[in-house]
Amino acid sequence: MNNPVQDSLDRPLRDLRISVTDKCNFRCRYCMPAGIFGPDYPFLPKDKVLSFEEIARLAEMFAGLGVTKLRITGGEPLLRKDLPVLIGMLKPIPGITDIALTTNGVLLPKFAAKLKEAGVGRVNVSLDSLHDETFRYMNGNRSGVQAVLDGMEAAAEAGLQVKVNMVVQKGVNDHEIVEMAAFFKARKHILRFIEFMDVGNSNGWRLDDVMTKQEIIQRIHGEMPVEPADPLYKGEVASKFRYKDTGEELGVISSVSDAFCSSCTRARISAEGTLYTCLFASKGYDLRDKLRSDLTDEEIQAYIADIWRGRKDRYSEERRSQTKDLPKVEMSHIGG
Ligand code: GTP
Ligand code: 5AD
Ligand code: SF4
Ligand code: SF4
Repeated sequence: MNNPVQDSLDRPLRDLRISVTDKCNFRCRYCMPAGIFGPDYPFLPKDKVLSFEEIARLAEMFAGLGVTKLRITGGEPLLRKDLPVLIGMLKPIPGITDIALTTNGVLLPKFAAKLKEAGVGRVNVSLDSLHDETFRYMNGNRSGVQAVLDGMEAAAEAGLQVKVNMVVQKGVNDHEIVEMAAFFKARKHILRFIEFMDVGNSNGWRLDDVMTKQEIIQRIHGEMPVEPADPLYKGEVASKFRYKDTGEELGVISSVSDAFCSSCTRARISAEGTLYTCLFASKGYDLRDKLRSDLTDEEIQAYIADIWRGRKDRYSEERRSQTKDLPKVEMSHIGG
């Protein structure tokens, strides 16, 4: 409906990922390791976090610049009080055709129906293992597997489309790749395997721990033959495959071995209202100050458009060269 603003590499602004809280009820080792995100960690105080009104105001400005898709993230977004109320405010924004949520799933039994009613169409639920011992090891002993499966079921029952995200770490859960694939193939949920990424500064990332897209697909193909499938739209994060027998889909998010920056149309806003033009950015742009000033929507929108026009990030494509040792924003802050 609108002409999106384009960045310096001709990538349009299409998606906005909005983090609504930096807090989480899990402590995944690859995201918020308990040793660092402990009781003394300086999480954001309430007055530093954007209000629903501020988020909706920003979303409307972004929609005016070309955004059609909103994804609500965290931390764990369902920890944000009254989240369905925010969804209800985002739903009527002209140009927004897709509102989705990325969650660890345990609060879905409580919220799925309300989210659906308010306007969420789909949820991506993280689950790294089907076995409590491994899962608890990975999530800092915060949840067993069944609570997440219950969350997925509640979401599906409420009419939400459910996809499953599995971060694969070599030597930790890679032995479950085929088992996970078979489990979700049978349940007809799209499972996406995610290459362990070097986000943030606290997860001790090493290239040796990464299972690549090729390795993952080879393992599955050996047991259940798959073939490549077409992306739903240009810029989709996951490379898609389908099982040759049933046609059910699966995906791999290969930000390490096969980066997808050239089609990246995503902007991110942290819970405190900082705009990031890349998941791996070390610096963002404060929008909260602008929202809490006398500037008009048009003026703030022009500021955002200028930032996007100047954008040249392609961290995942450059990873191995100059950017390796730069400080990065934590995943729980930027929302993945
Ligand atoms: P769909 O709209 O369902 O395709 O969602 P999505 O895959 O874009 O979002 P989700 O929050 O489920 O993210 C899945 C994984 O992809 C997470 O590990 C994200 O950090 C990662 N991811 C999402 N967008 C990007 C991106 O722009 N760059 C990189 N490197 N990783 C991304
Ligand atoms: N590498 C890859 N994926 C990650 N996620 C969190 N941290 C990492 C990481 N270091 C995933 C979560 C969730 C999504 C938002 O990002 O598991 O599915
Ligand atoms: Fe929480 Fe998701 Fe990070 Fe795990 S990956 S700690 S569930 S925000
Ligand atoms: Fe986009 Fe940055 Fe991810 Fe590349 S690394 S796909 S530019 S967010």
